[in-house]
Amino acid sequence: MEVSAGFQVVSLLLFCFAATSHGVYFSSLKETLEVIASPTNGQVLKAGEDNITVTWGFNQTWPAGTDSDYKTIKVKLCYAPISQKDRKWRKTEDHLKKDKTCSHKIVARPYAASNNSFTWTVERDIPSATYFVRAFAFNAQEEEVAYGQTTDAHKSTNLFKVQAITGRHVSLDIASVCFSAFSVVTLAGFFYKEKRNSDDNKKISTVIGYLDSIAATSHGVSFSSLKETLEVIASPTNGQVLKAGEDNITVTWRFNQTLSAGTDSDYKTIKVKLCYAPISQKDRKWRKTEDLLKKDKSCTHKIVAGPYAASNNSFTWTVKRDIPSATYFVRAYALNAQEEEVAYGQTTNAQKSTNLFEVQAITGRHASLDIASICFSAFSVVSLAGFFYMEKRK
Ligand SMILES: *[C@@H]1O[C@H](CO)[C@@H](O)[C@H](O)[C@H]1NC(C)=O
Ligand SMILES: *[C@@H]1O[C@H](CO)[C@@H](O)[C@H](O)[C@H]1NC(C)=O
Ligand SMILES: *[C@@H]1O[C@H](CO)[C@@H](O)[C@H](O)[C@H]1NC(C)=O
Ligand SMILES: *[C@@H]1O[C@H](CO)[C@@H](O)[C@H](O)[C@H]1NC(C)=O
Ligand SMILES: *[C@@H]1O[C@H](CO)[C@@H](O)[C@H](O)[C@H]1NC(C)=O
Ligand SMILES: *[C@@H]1O[C@H](CO)[C@@H](O)[C@H](O)[C@H]1NC(C)=O
Repeated sequence: MEVSAGFQVVSLLLFCFAATSHGVYFSSLKETLEVIASPTNGQVLKAGEDNITVTWGFNQTWPAGTDSDYKTIKVKLCYAPISQKDRKWRKTEDHLKKDKTCSHKIVARPYAASNNSFTWTVERDIPSATYFVRAFAFNAQEEEVAYGQTTDAHKSTNLFKVQAITGRHVSLDIASVCFSAFSVVTLAGFFYKEKRNSDDNKKISTVIGYLDSIAATSHGVSFSSLKETLEVIASPTNGQVLKAGEDNITVTWRFNQTLSAGTDSDYKTIKVKLCYAPISQKDRKWRKTEDLLKKDKSCTHKIVAGPYAASNNSFTWTVKRDIPSATYFVRAYALNAQEEEVAYGQTTNAQKSTNLFEVQAITGRHASLDIASICFSAFSVVSLAGFFYMEKRK
């Protein structure tokens, strides 16, 4: 069975090869069609703007019935020899399946001996070159059987030019480059973020640690120097699992009234933050707790910031889509007029072991974003390459 199947495949291949190796030759066709196109000799047409009106019909000096097997007509825009020089992809071949002279279709119509006319606006993608118009007549087997053209046999008379819209192409070029660069950068950024959410990433944490050490000034406020004067309550219960992008956290905060009045006299603003519990900081340097607050990475997700008020503060926050899966608590910082932290309050105890909740990230969505981003990037790189290739061919 397998041998026979293999034999069939080989036969099929040979058949296909044989089918392409014979075919219609241009030199075998009779010039029985009269074709006239509106452009005058040497006229310059603008691609995307100017029109060509082509009329064609059977040359009545041929014996009647010569056209009895003509079924369809295809009218084409063809390169003059001057625009074929050194361009193999426009080369004239007598074998019509290989011929590249007439690669731009103008119109196809059922055959009629007379009264045929078509007006065509030169398409935007027609390259700058010198052209003529040729019509082919096809029989019922879709083989070329006759032709007619607007020029002589040497393709030297009655030629016209098309001027491509190069200005527009340059701007497309630029748009394409920007688009491509943008998506590559987006992709890189996306992987960077995803990587940070993943467990093992020594390189990134090293880089971040390095950048931190550059950025952080050697002096600043230490967490250990702050008083816990704020009472903070968040709606999630201990161990509750919240869905990123869906579930809400309501945070309320106020000054702890058991402390002496006036303790809060220099509090100007409040920043409420979502903070990683120790279990979600383990082996993740980029979430590390540091006493120096400028270096601290426990509370990287801002919930809300506002002017300080001793009581009646409440805010409901929908867990953002980009919050990674982890265990969290909520902390509020009071800042003075110099924007330095002066006090804090949090929903957990000092050991950060009580009253913790979890966030479940929308990982399915991230995976699809990943794929979309890769496709987007690949698509634009391919578009760009294709575009340059097309420009080059002109
Ligand atoms: C070409 O034809 C179109 C539609 O037939 C027309 O709107 C346009 O004005 C014509 N252009 C010129 C340059 O004649
Ligand atoms: C029609 O065909 C005859 C004979 O081939 C030729 O001499 C004549 O130039 C043709 N007319 C046109 C308009 O092509
Ligand atoms: C061609 O058109 C003319 C007038 O527009 C008409 O008199 C003639 O019959 C038409 N010829 C054919 C073959 O359709
Ligand atoms: C969260 O809050 C938004 C707007 O306040 C609301 O539309 C949404 O239904 C809430 N989600 C849940 C899970 O309660
Ligand atoms: C308020 O502060 C006092 C004294 O520091 C403390 O014992 C108490 O637990 C605090 N209240 C709350 C709700 O944090
Ligand atoms: C807090 O709100 C209650 C009622 O909602 C009001 O009576 C009280 O004056 C408010 N306190 C402050 C400090 O705004």
